[in-house]
This record gives sequence, C-alpha cells and structure tokens, in this order.
Amino acid sequence: MSIDPQPQFDLSFNNTLGVPARAAWYAELHEASDLPLLVRWAKEHDMAVRALGGGSNLVMHEQVSGLTIKVSIRGKTRIDSGSSRQRWRLGAGESWHETVVDLIEQGGSGVENLALIPGTVGAAPVQNIGAYGVELADCLYRVEAYDTQENQWRQFTREACEFGYRDSVFKQQENRFIITAVELDLDQEFQPRLSYGPLQELANLPDLNARDVLAKVIEVRQSRLPDPMVLPNAGSFFKNPVITSETYSALVKNHPNLVVYAQPGGWKLAAGWLIDQCGLRGQSNVDGVGCYEHQALVLVNPKRAPAASIQAWQALVQGAVLERFGVELEPEPRFWA
Ligand code: EPU
Repeated sequence: MSIDPQPQFDLSFNNTLGVPARAAWYAELHEASDLPLLVRWAKEHDMAVRALGGGSNLVMHEQVSGLTIKVSIRGKTRIDSGSSRQRWRLGAGESWHETVVDLIEQGGSGVENLALIPGTVGAAPVQNIGAYGVELADCLYRVEAYDTQENQWRQFTREACEFGYRDSVFKQQENRFIITAVELDLDQEFQPRLSYGPLQELANLPDLNARDVLAKVIEVRQSRLPDPMVLPNAGSFFKNPVITSETYSALVKNHPNLVVYAQPGGWKLAAGWLIDQCGLRGQSNVDGVGCYEHQALVLVNPKRAPAASIQAWQALVQGAVLERFGVELEPEPRFWA
C-alpha cells in the first residue's frame, strides 16, 4: 500500500470548532485508487473508517477511534455532457468555496449563492449544503463514492442521494460511503435566485450577473458569520426545526413575532431567533463556549475547549428553547467519538 496510516494523529487543526482531538489512526488520501486498500487495512485491524473533509461540520471527541481518512483528492475537469448545461467533475478534496469562485470565473452559474461555505467538495453532498434559497441538490448531477460495507465503487444519481434539508443517504448511513468525486451541472445562462432578503436589492441592478451575486453573498456572510480561522465555529449548530401547522398555530398565539418560513406540509422555524429570544446570543460558559454575538445559531469556541464543553453548551441551549417554546433543537454537526 502506498499510504501508511499513522497512529495518534493530532486533529486539533483539522476541525473548524478547534476542539483538541487525536485520531487513533490517520491517513491522507490523494488518489481514489488507494481507497480500497486503506479500507481493507482498517477491516483487517477491526477498525471503523471515517472520511474527513474540511472538518467544518464536526464535533470531535478527544480520542477519535478507528481510521480517519483525510480526503485530499484534487481535480476540476469540464466534461462534455451533450446538454446545454456545464458539467464539472470535481475531486472530493477541493475546497468548496475556491471551487465556487473558479466555476463562476469560468462562466458557469447556479452555485453563486453557496459561496464561502466552509469545507470540501466531497463533504457538500453529505449535508446537502444550502444557503440563500439554494441547496447543493439543485445543481448536483452525480456523486462517486466507495461503499466500505460492500467493498465496491458506487455512482449516486441525484435521486439516489436522497437529499433533504441538511440531509442525504451519506448522512443517514453514516461512515458507509466515502465520497471521492462530485459532478455538478451548472447553468450556461445565468438565472438569478434572489428570494433571500439581502439579495433582493440586487434585482434592480442592470446587467446583473453571477459575479455580482457571488460578491453580495460573500459580503453578507462575512458580515454575519464568524470566520472559523479567526473564531472557531462549525456554522449553524442546530437545524431549523420543521413543525406542523398545529404546532405553529399554538406557538404563534403566545409568540406573535415568531420567525417562520412556509414549507411544504408545515413550517420551518428560525432556530437562531428562538435561541436569541432565550437571551443566549452573545452568552457563553466558563470555557468560553457560547452563541455568537451576531448570530445565535452559531456556536463559537474561542478558547478551543474540548467536545464536553461544546456538548454542555448545546444541552443548555436545547433546554432553554424547549422550556420557552416547547421545541426540540437537533444539532447539525456530526459527532465523532
Ligand atoms: N435571527 C435572530 N437572531 C439571531 C439569529 C437569527 O433573530 O441571533 C433571525 C434573523 O433575523 C432572521 C432569522 O432568524 O429573521 C433567520 O436567520 P438567518 O437569515 O441568519 O438564517 P438561519 O435560518 O439562521 C440558515 C442556514 C444557514 C444559511 C442561512 C442563509 C440552517 C441551519 N442554517 O440560517 O446555513 O447560511 O440560512 O440561507 O439552515 C449552516 O448550515 O451552517 C449555515 C450557516
């Protein structure tokens, strides 16, 4: 095997929440063809396998068991799809944001609303990343992954990915599939998606193009969300809860200012608003773990406290929201032990 797994590898700078963590075993994957051998090595040693991208949606415990495979497969190739859309094949280890900027510079569009989301291309389908009225599912053509259970390569069409709100088959069947490549279908002709509040003002701009939207999205994100390189965080820490019409009617009676979005079959609550209403925005615990001062949904970890402190703050926030609104918040990141 051309890659030798290393024991006790420090992951503290491989997770954007900045928690101190070590992988029992670690290997960095540059070539997809090395993956079957790595997986076999782990099985021979009776170890679980996990794929690591940018570590931007993870809470790692101090000791991460098994073999952690950092997916660093590069590549950005335009392929002829025979359709009017621009098809791109991307290595899973590419930076998502750099890819977005690159594809837009090359004349594609459809991903501009998803700029500045931290993490890698390969991690994007796991969460079905989304922002400002667009989600990855809207432009995804196909995912290539290795099935560590069946020891075989698999191709997933968009339908086979079973995308939902921050959800997919890759998240549901945790650690089963390791994504090595993603194919996107971009628009040749720019179609603005400006439904989200701060983007609406672009609608009147003459000759609006994808670069204008890209610049606006970057500006909005930079003004509202902390840069993980400066202030450790994992983006939104909770999903926005989806509730039934009955729950909505009951809640809005007591909370007439409730922030909600209509959804097929129900309503989606703004978790950030719920947390803010509990007075937790800008508050933190003794370890410094707390809710970001400009966006309560983002949990920040300025002192790089361990997972236990993160979970303690998570429980405090969930308890406060449950008590005040009777609503359960579900964490968005995945937990690695
Ligand atoms: N709000 C408050 N106080 C807060 C935070 C938010 O009152 O402290 C209110 C806002 O004023 C607004 C509403 O809550 O009326 C929603 O806030 P925002 O527009 O910031 O969006 P969000 O629902 O909190 C979601 C995604 C983000 C994505 C934005 C924009 C989830 C869990 N989060 O946040 O995604 O960037 O919409 O589309 O769906 C992520 O997943 O990591 C992420 C950052």
